[in-house]
Amino acid sequence: MLTSRWPLPALLTWLSAWALMVLAPRFGVDVWVAGAVAVGWSLAIALQQSQRWRRLMVAAGFPLSWLMLQGGAISTWPAWAWLVPLAVLAVLYPRSTWGDAPLFPTPKDALQGLGQALPLPASAKVLDAGCGLGDGLLALRREYPQADLRGLEWSAPLRWACAWRCGFAQVRRGDIWAADWSGLDVVYLFQRPESMPKARDKALRELRPGAWLVSLEFEVPGWTPHTRLETVPGKPVWLYQAPFGATTPHRCTAAMARACGKSCQAKVSCEPTRPPARFESRTP
Ligand SMILES: C[S@@+](CC[C@H](N)C(=O)[O-])C[C@H]1O[C@@H](n2cnc3c(N)ncnc32)[C@H](O)[C@@H]1O
Repeated sequence: MLTSRWPLPALLTWLSAWALMVLAPRFGVDVWVAGAVAVGWSLAIALQQSQRWRRLMVAAGFPLSWLMLQGGAISTWPAWAWLVPLAVLAVLYPRSTWGDAPLFPTPKDALQGLGQALPLPASAKVLDAGCGLGDGLLALRREYPQADLRGLEWSAPLRWACAWRCGFAQVRRGDIWAADWSGLDVVYLFQRPESMPKARDKALRELRPGAWLVSLEFEVPGWTPHTRLETVPGKPVWLYQAPFGATTPHRCTAAMARACGKSCQAKVSCEPTRPPARFESRTP
């Protein structure tokens, strides 16, 4: 159960660690021993989480709250003060987005080489689905300065901040799963592994032939990517072109061939010689 739907593992771990901390001393266990066991318990559950940020949240919740309660000034705060960070979190991340990704910005260079690997016409419509603070849009802008860039974000404060940072893009508040993807040339996603089956179904239904689904870090399960780039270690960029599926054809662009330093053929895996990006072309 503790590895089930996020954020349940974090809440249950914090709750059980605190239960241990409160109950164990009643049975004669020293409070520091109880604390150490509760920290160990949090760590054990944290190690079962699939992502680094989740491991950190699960592991740090109990020891942090314990330390804060020990520390002088904080222990004198009124109980409702704890609701302030919770309220900030609720405004930043409305409950409906908990099933998708929280705010993790696209690293500055993660999309470097995308414009070469996937050339687009000047007015191509490119959506950053879940645009957060706009780092994905800024990275897309560096690759596609002429494109019609759009951002969609559920959290109102993030949407405002993104619109302020990305005056070059149309940034709207909305749900990426309710939005219509059919008129778009590229949908860029940086979500969560659990969101990818949903993205796959939506892309299959709505993206027209020739359009692209580009995902940072997380692969679409069951699909063969057209191309994979990796400029930031651990943050691969997966490119899929409609019509999707296991029969995605290999397409070698001149830019990929240049990057490989040789002629690009099906089943070739290219290591970079000059540019920083790594291009891997796959065939089913
Ligand atoms: C990992 S961040 C990526 C931010 C941005 N795309 C970037 O790469 O810098 C994911 C963002 O998606 C937003 N999000 C999650 N689910 C969403 C939904 N259903 N509709 C709109 N935005 C959503 C989150 O609020 C968060 O800002």
